[in-house]
Amino acid sequence: MNNIVLVGFMGVGKSTVGKALAKRLSYEFYDSDDKIQQIAGMDITEIFKTHGEKYFRRLEYEVITAKIGQRNVVISTGGGAVMNEQLYNLLLSKAIVIHLEASLEILYHRLSNSSNRPMLDHHDLKKRIDELYELRHPIYMKAHHNVKIDGKDLNSIVEEILSIVK
Ligand code: S3P
Repeated sequence: MNNIVLVGFMGVGKSTVGKALAKRLSYEFYDSDDKIQQIAGMDITEIFKTHGEKYFRRLEYEVITAKIGQRNVVISTGGGAVMNEQLYNLLLSKAIVIHLEASLEILYHRLSNSSNRPMLDHHDLKKRIDELYELRHPIYMKAHHNVKIDGKDLNSIVEEILSIVK
């Protein structure tokens, strides 16, 4: 089976689901945000503040492309990774790409106390989420599979993904 890549909006649970999924498959789990922070030696907020978003996106591209050629990996991507068309096309051609989809209501709720997410550093959080969602949702929908997460627990989400990929 190919590698599995999880995409989707901030707060949908890509890391939590990815970790549990990797465990079930006995795959390596790889979180692009964790790797970026490790390489940069600072958290995401600091990276944006010190080096800017462009630098973060470059690292994001590098850490994901470095991993995609390896075998038996579940990769959780940051919510903005798919906005790099070249990177997204590469993922679509090399892996099984799963979009974790949440309703806006769930996202407002989950992101209301979000920290370490500079993309949401905005005076009107709801408006910011709306804007990003409108821009990104059609892109996420290009994934190979779409898994809705509203009202589902971690185990059922993982089972649903397993039934898709196996
Ligand atoms: C981002 C999402 C974050 C992280 C960075 C930028 C985005 O990851 O990569 O803050 O542009 O949507 P999560 O989706 O895990 O929050």
